[in-house]
Amino acid sequence: MIRLLYCSQAKPDFTKETLDEILLISRKNNSTAGITGVLVHGGGMFMQVLEGPEQQVLRTYMKILDDKRHTDSRIIHISPVKERLFDNWTMGVIEAEPLTFEHVAKLRAHRLESVTADAFYQVMREFNAMLVKT
Ligand SMILES: Cc1cc2nc3c(=O)[nH]c(=O)nc-3n(C[C@H](O)[C@H](O)[C@H](O)COP(=O)(O)O)c2cc1C
Repeated sequence: MIRLLYCSQAKPDFTKETLDEILLISRKNNSTAGITGVLVHGGGMFMQVLEGPEQQVLRTYMKILDDKRHTDSRIIHISPVKERLFDNWTMGVIEAEPLTFEHVAKLRAHRLESVTADAFYQVMREFNAMLVKT
């Protein structure tokens, strides 16, 4: 299994309806593909965690990369994993305040190799806590 985290910019005309469409198709496809994760949206940005079988995660990410509803997608973190962090979520969603992205932007500013495991897991724990509240 692998876990992949990326960040992207929503297109300026992105609406709540578009987000609902994405969630609907994601939950359907991801449950078939054995993918779990979370999609964080706010401040004109997306951040998404995809975890599951390597081939399925990469294939899904390729589709997402091609999607014209967002741009400038960059992988922030990718690693092999033994356990899921979001095992109850075929795709959880968090509507975040722009501020939420501040520390994420910091992660993004680093080169991929230098994102420390601590910084990464702190963000993941925060996402998990937000999911439980919603
Ligand atoms: C920010 C963002 C996140 C997305 N996340 C997923 C996802 O987790 N799983 C998925 O199947 N599609 C996701 N999509 C949609 C894909 O880009 C694509 O439209 C969809 O997978 C096509 O499904 P289909 O091959 O069944 O027609 C996402 C799109 C965007 C813009």
